[in-house]
Amino acid sequence: MRIGLSYDLKEAITSGRANLPEDAFEEYDYPATINYIASALEHAGNTIVRLDGGRQFIENILREKVDIVFNISEGRGTYRSREAQVPSILEMLDIPYTGADPECLAVCLDKPLTKKLVTLAGIATPPWLTVKNKNELDSVRWNEVAFPLIVKPAFEGSSKGVRLNSIANDKEKAVEVTLNLMELYHQPVMLEGFVKGDEVTVGIVGNSPPGVVGIMRILPKQQTEHFVYSLEVKRDWQNLVDYECPACLDKPILDRITTDSLKAFTILECRDFTRIDFRIGADGIPYFIEINPLPGLGDYSDLVIMAIKMGWSHEALIRAVLSAALERYPFCVQE
Ligand SMILES: Nc1ncnc2c1ncn2[C@@H]1O[C@H](COP(=O)(O)OP(=O)(O)OP(=O)(O)O)[C@@H](O)[C@H]1O
Ligand SMILES: [Mg+2]
Repeated sequence: MRIGLSYDLKEAITSGRANLPEDAFEEYDYPATINYIASALEHAGNTIVRLDGGRQFIENILREKVDIVFNISEGRGTYRSREAQVPSILEMLDIPYTGADPECLAVCLDKPLTKKLVTLAGIATPPWLTVKNKNELDSVRWNEVAFPLIVKPAFEGSSKGVRLNSIANDKEKAVEVTLNLMELYHQPVMLEGFVKGDEVTVGIVGNSPPGVVGIMRILPKQQTEHFVYSLEVKRDWQNLVDYECPACLDKPILDRITTDSLKAFTILECRDFTRIDFRIGADGIPYFIEINPLPGLGDYSDLVIMAIKMGWSHEALIRAVLSAALERYPFCVQE
């Protein structure tokens, strides 16, 4: 097959906007990740066409003839639907692609909306409130809020805007962090109940049925009162965390994580692959934090680390994502 690769490289992005946060391009990929995916697909006998991202992608996809696009494009700008940009263009052109559809990608980047949907499905998630502007912040009834809170941008990933100092133990700190995020990220801010317990992330691959690749616990190398898998930690993960996969947790907790992960994958209509984050409460309940229907596939990404710990190869993971997508497009598969 001729497989197009759509992606956004950190180095390719420039923006005219002043006052961009230092982590503005955190979610974009390194060339090594593109090479890594391309070689996995080439080893399976495919021809790879690099389509790039942004305007370049539009020019390339109109010119090139591909059977399917392997999409890892995060999209441009700070729009909450940015991950839907490339899949939307592909649907407009009727070109097959891997991964979730535009609606799923747009919904899941909106954390408060996603939390409402998983709550409807009976999945536990920490209490939260969202503030869109200073007026809404001024109207918060702080006496009804249980601290500590974690304060984070409503439409981000890769821990953009989530720092070691994102925890608020009182109103003053919550207001300070919120105002700072509003100014830097130009989007609503979530104030969410901080769940102190273990952090796990769950990988899912496939559709019929979707299967759990692994449940991985993220353990800080140094105990802190409030562990946050923050931007600082993700950038220096080799020194700051250990990954335990499979996670050594009690079976009832693991069972509930599995059930809730598959339920979230299904109700949000994810496809092909996904990663979901939970924190385990003192009550033993796994609390849904957020879901990534377009999880990173670099060798430093949680899904890849987890898959390798569970005995997969990176190539097998990439091929499993492609195979899952191809079930939707049997006409793509030659011979
Ligand atoms: N309610 C919470 N309770 C405890 N920790 C939290 C909570 N919300 C976020 N965190 C911490 O902050 C980290 C980043 O938050 P979150 O997963 O929402 O951000 P993200 O940018 O979407 O992450 P990703 O890199 O997985 O896309 C979490 O992995 C967790 O360590
Ligand atoms: Mg996360």
